[in-house]
Amino acid sequence: MRRKEFLRLAGFAGAVSALGGLGWMANGCRTKSEGSPIQPPPSDTSTSGRAEGDFRTALAIPPVMAVTSRPSFQSNIARVALIQGKAGEVYGYGGGILGPTFTAKSGEKATFAFTNRLREPTNVHWHGLIIPPLMDGHPEQSIPAAGTFNFQFDINQRAGLYWYHPHAMGSTAVQVFKGLGGLFMVTDEEEDALKLPSGDRQIPLVLQDKRFGSDGSLHYAPTKDEVMTGYFGESVLVNGVVSPFVPVATGWYRLRVLNGSTARIYNLTLSAGAEMTLVGSDAGLLARPEKIRRLLLSPGERADILVDFSTVGIGTDVFLMSDPFDGAGSQGKSGFKILRFYVDRKVTDPFTLPSNLSTIAPANPSSATRTRIFEIGTQGGGMENMKGMRMKGDSPGNGMAEMHTINGKSYDLKRIDEVLKAGVTERWVFDNSQGDEPHPMHIHGVHFRILERVGGRNGVQAGETGWKDTVLLLPKEKVSVLFQTPTFPGKYVMHCHNLEHEDSGMMMNFEVR
Ligand code: C2O
Ligand code: CU
Ligand code: CU
Repeated sequence: MRRKEFLRLAGFAGAVSALGGLGWMANGCRTKSEGSPIQPPPSDTSTSGRAEGDFRTALAIPPVMAVTSRPSFQSNIARVALIQGKAGEVYGYGGGILGPTFTAKSGEKATFAFTNRLREPTNVHWHGLIIPPLMDGHPEQSIPAAGTFNFQFDINQRAGLYWYHPHAMGSTAVQVFKGLGGLFMVTDEEEDALKLPSGDRQIPLVLQDKRFGSDGSLHYAPTKDEVMTGYFGESVLVNGVVSPFVPVATGWYRLRVLNGSTARIYNLTLSAGAEMTLVGSDAGLLARPEKIRRLLLSPGERADILVDFSTVGIGTDVFLMSDPFDGAGSQGKSGFKILRFYVDRKVTDPFTLPSNLSTIAPANPSSATRTRIFEIGTQGGGMENMKGMRMKGDSPGNGMAEMHTINGKSYDLKRIDEVLKAGVTERWVFDNSQGDEPHPMHIHGVHFRILERVGGRNGVQAGETGWKDTVLLLPKEKVSVLFQTPTFPGKYVMHCHNLEHEDSGMMMNFEVR
């Protein structure tokens, strides 16, 4: 590396640590990107047309707020320069894009005062939290502009990286795309005892792709085709920063990764094929660490990844990247860089990787009292339904066509599709065997185990052996999951976490009685 560049990076590193690792640039005042990444025009909708920045902007880390501090938060509109130094409108739960990371110890009570400062209705869903449905942002629970809502619930679940985002009827995708979303980190004694890397050695990473207009504003306007495939952005952002870098020391790091994109799947890998150690998935720790070199992470899914930089030389770059992948319809055609780790200092790190992480009992499929089968990705089973497809010009949100279905039905806010008994074990089968697009399927209010995958990749993958709340189905795949139905009665949803699919009908209601 040239000396001039090194000095500039060293300067950034200083600025970041001066903020105690909380280099969060609120109120639209963020680190100015050096150099100007060239953006393709918004009309370039190809999934391969991607604009990589120069990886010289410091990664922002969202501020941390303990739920016991009874935080208040708002959905806000802000003006922030995300690209080329041009300010544009974003949504967020703080002063800029995204929101704070809420933290809770298992067993604590959470209380939030929420205010909607958008010009449209929104609500807040706590993805992965096991809480009463009236607190969980069912699309029916609309909070109007200027409206308020007091959330109150107990955190009574495993340590894990959960998250919160809007779930407003028909406008989840656009509101998440514009910047609404944040992390919710739950810790417990089992996890604490492992002494995994913490402090500034634990880095939350929210991965999102965005499309920008030439004026630097976020551009969300999916065509009919993009509602089918999902809406892809040419720029990949981490924690709201385009192509960032983060200085690291020669030790172990814990990366808490969320795919917060509306549709894009990442095939995560490190440059030079370096090894990653997967220690957790959606709902907490795996039983044992898994050494991996690649990990498919679909929208809504989380990964808990340890990386050991101890053998990397000072002054070296290591990139978190997405590798091309096969069998995912329109996705995975090309690879790209996401984040640059810059190894800038030596430390001695006493951390040793535990051989066991958590006790996870084997899933027992014979305990299921019922099996339900959900056919996804076929527009209700054939061309006759395609022809009957309705364009809903007057629907809320973006007026997306009702193009996606589960068991042949597109989402109806009022219709109860399935009735469940509380607290029993069920087996749900997601069937994408006729489909030709990927679908990350998510169930509210439960954590499930993956029993099997038939077709496509065949078999339970790395990172799917623990507790999950979202599972990726590639085309031709059929996946069975097992879970205990919620104990809180009320109305929940199950849906595809490709948010364009969700907003265009790939969602259903289930009621627990
Ligand atoms: Cu993140 Cu309804 O989901
Ligand atoms: Cu959810
Ligand atoms: Cu889908």
